[in-house]
Amino acid sequence: MGGPRIQVVEDTDALSRAGADLLAGSIAAIPGARVVVATGHTPMATYAELAERRRSGLFDPAAMSVLQLDEYLGLEPGDRRSLYGWMQRSFLGPMGIAEDRVARLPVEGDLDAACAGFDQMIDSRGGLDLAILGLGLNGHLGFNEPPADRSAPTRVVDLSPVTIAANARYWGSVGAVPTKAVTIGMRQLLSARAIVMVVSGEGKRAIVHRSLEGSVGPDVPASFLQVVDSGVTVIVDRAAWGEG
Ligand code: PGA
Repeated sequence: MGGPRIQVVEDTDALSRAGADLLAGSIAAIPGARVVVATGHTPMATYAELAERRRSGLFDPAAMSVLQLDEYLGLEPGDRRSLYGWMQRSFLGPMGIAEDRVARLPVEGDLDAACAGFDQMIDSRGGLDLAILGLGLNGHLGFNEPPADRSAPTRVVDLSPVTIAANARYWGSVGAVPTKAVTIGMRQLLSARAIVMVVSGEGKRAIVHRSLEGSVGPDVPASFLQVVDSGVTVIVDRAAWGEG
């Protein structure tokens, strides 16, 4: 357990190339890889780069399967602002991944039972091979809002004011952002064989250092990345990391 490998890159272009290199290599190395795919702003250029490589025949995602990381609750089916819709436009479509190779998080019915079933499904298939994650301003992974223990299961969560404020840009106003969501839990994410976290921009500087160098505990869920057995790589641009 050597702790996360931290790869500091100059800018967002370099981040997308480094992210695409790492993801393409990791996915190619495990036929049928089970991959958690984050939405959010940061990984978008990396996905675009991967899609470009696919078009050029340099990357073949045909065998991978995808798990949804998180989703808002309370949306109408087909709402374009759902995170599933975003994942479809940014990743599944460009990678040519059919819906039957995607595990969608439950959003209706008995959610506690369905979330437990989702974890059982992951366990029964041997766990996650790769988790592609962003970093929340409050240190969340997926929607594992602080405090979130390392054993937290897949579950329904209340979004924190910080997350709601950060996501208001997609909804027009703070008041329009859903307040409840479902997220893959910490236990599954931290048990993934490999974790790639992408972090960009000066606004993330304090939280990225706190997550990777501060004390480890539920108040900063991403701090658990310091102590997992998985291979963790954090690709962070200079704006987020600073000169240090
Ligand atoms: P961002 O989101 O990539 O849009 O900054 C990261 C996150 O909240 O996990």
